[in-house]
Amino acid sequence: MLWRVFKYISHQFFFRHRKGHGIHSPYIFEFVNQILFNSAGIETPAEILGEHRRMSSEYVFVRRASVSTRYGSLLYRIIYWFQPDMILELGTGIGISTIYLSSGAPDTPLHSIEGNMERATIAAQLICRCCPGPVSIHWGEMEKKLEELLPMLPPRFVAFVDGNHHYEPTVVYVRELVDRAGDEAIIVMDDIYWSRGMLRAWKEIGSWPEVKVSMDLFHSGILLLRKDLQKTDLKIKF
Ligand SMILES: C[S@@+](CC[C@H](N)C(=O)[O-])C[C@H]1O[C@@H](n2cnc3c(N)ncnc32)[C@H](O)[C@@H]1O
Repeated sequence: MLWRVFKYISHQFFFRHRKGHGIHSPYIFEFVNQILFNSAGIETPAEILGEHRRMSSEYVFVRRASVSTRYGSLLYRIIYWFQPDMILELGTGIGISTIYLSSGAPDTPLHSIEGNMERATIAAQLICRCCPGPVSIHWGEMEKKLEELLPMLPPRFVAFVDGNHHYEPTVVYVRELVDRAGDEAIIVMDDIYWSRGMLRAWKEIGSWPEVKVSMDLFHSGILLLRKDLQKTDLKIKF
């Protein structure tokens, strides 16, 4: 815990990029400026924010383990801007991040994996209430479910990796996703400073040649795989 506080403070002081300053690639500049810092003015639907607040007051899990409205809205903007062919989520919880992801592209298939049956059931109810699109919750062990889903993953996907926060499974899952990815896939990893193991996984993944851009926002990390981008590692105060 103390280690995370220390890392958070040093991240606040030693971030290197704010609002796109000092970034030369137009694509990365657009991503940071318009999507991360929302100069594009993309608004998260009020119903999604309302459901998030309602679920927060009902379930302690949301306050402890779900994305915040700030990070949920970032997921929404990434999907809204990128319009992937498929969305894959590892770690549904009770569905908070799922509703942000799905509402960014309501007609895009979304597959989400959750190992805890009670949470998966609550998530399914939430999704029925607010996501009219093709959303499927896959209840079961991450590794097994991922193996089943990978063959149907198109090259142009967005994946949100938010389950099993340990070094080894994280590296294995992201490796499998990177191997399936085409030119443009985007992978968002949550809780990259959750533990020393997660930070080690984040740094190792960022060093892979297929990962062209890594953006360290402290609570999350974003990986862009576009082959025409120059290798860039950004530490951003978000
Ligand atoms: C941090 S929570 C997800 C929160 C959710 N993404 C959100 O923001 O609302 C992580 C979830 O991953 C699930 N999980 C962790 N390890 C798993 C595994 N090996 N197999 C399946 N699910 C797993 C947990 O049950 C937990 O609900």
